[in-house]
Order: sequence, then structure tokens, then C-alpha cells
Amino acid sequence: GKRKTKVNILIVGLDNSGKTSIIERMKLQSGKVPKGGMPQEVTPTVGFSVDEFSKGSLSFTVFDMSGAGRYRNLWERHFREAAAVVFVVDSADKLRLCVAKDELDAMLESSELLGKPFLVFANKMDLPTALSPVDVAQGLSLDEIEAHPWQIVPSNALDGSGLQEGLDWLANFLN
Ligand code: GTP
Ligand code: MG
Repeated sequence: GKRKTKVNILIVGLDNSGKTSIIERMKLQSGKVPKGGMPQEVTPTVGFSVDEFSKGSLSFTVFDMSGAGRYRNLWERHFREAAAVVFVVDSADKLRLCVAKDELDAMLESSELLGKPFLVFANKMDLPTALSPVDVAQGLSLDEIEAHPWQIVPSNALDGSGLQEGLDWLANFLN
């Protein structure tokens, strides 16, 4: 049979940014039929959960971390095994963009993540109050990142727009 390359992906970002929603959409787009029909309402992740889906020749194992403050210390346990990081931002959550930046900066300083690609989803682009991807990039000072390949992609986890584009970018580094 056909062999797929297995890759571990770490998906992080503040609580309510849309991480679990993005994974549910990606599973749907990869042809995985959810148990019990259409995807159910997402609930806040407790701790973390592990999911799998495939795209092309890649088989993704995704560590979907809770973004709640009390669980953020769990993120770093998965740095070593992660081939790439997906960092999700709620583009309409202007008040907490600086908190997201602090969390991102801490990750960028980790030696265990050195050189690994960072994909930033500027999520919830459908909301009228969402910042533009340029403003999100500026708020996170993405321009200053030198030790990692990075990309920011606007997304909407509700209709799935942007998700394939983001995955395609990641796939370039994972083959
Ligand atoms: P934690 O597990 O608590 O860290 O949150 P999370 O990042 O996994 O967020 P989750 O996927 O649970 O989504 C939080 C809420 O945002 C849910 O009500 C989603 O339906 C909603 N949501 C997610 N993505 C989008 C989006 O692109 N647009 C809009 N309008 N709502 C979204
Ligand atoms: Mg979640």
C-alpha cells in the first residue's frame, strides 16, 4: 500500500482563538467523516487532545492544546516532538493580541523549536471587527522572526477558508 510520511504538528494560541474548530474543519476537508454526522458544537479543550488527518502524502498527528491560561504550561511538553507549530489568533480579540504576542515570543525563544516552521492563522476573518492580517502580523511583530520560516494566513474556521492555503505552505517544509 501507499506509505504516508508522518508528521507531528503542535497547534497553540489563546483560548477561544479557534484551534479545535480549525482541526475539525481540516478533518472534514481531508474526507474524515465525523462520528454522528456533521461536526458538533466545539467546546473548550481541557488540557489537550490528539487528532489525526491526512493530506496528500502526509499523515498529520495534531496536538490540539488548550489555550486557557492554566493549561498553557502544557504546550512546551510537545515542543521537541513537533515538526511545526500552528499558532492561531482570534483577529477580533484586539485586547488580547499582546497576550498572544507574549506567548508566541516565549515559544520563539525555545531551543526545542529552533528552525521549525511557524504558521500563523489570523482566524475569525469573517467577524466585522477583525483586524487585517497585516495588522495581526504587526501586533505580533512577525517581521522580527529570523530563526524560523513563518507565514501568516487569514482564515475562517467556520467555512474553512484559508485552511488549505496554510496547510499547503506547511507541507513545503514537511515532505
Ligand atoms: P480552547 O480549546 O479553549 O483553547 O479554544 P479553541 O482555540 O480550541 O477555540 P474553539 O475552536 O473552541 O472556538 C472557540 C469559539 O470560536 C467557538 O464558538 C467557535 O465556533 C468560534 N470560532 C472558531 N473559529 C471561528 C471563525 O473563524 N469565525 C468565527 N466567527 N467564529 C469562530
Ligand atoms: Mg480547543
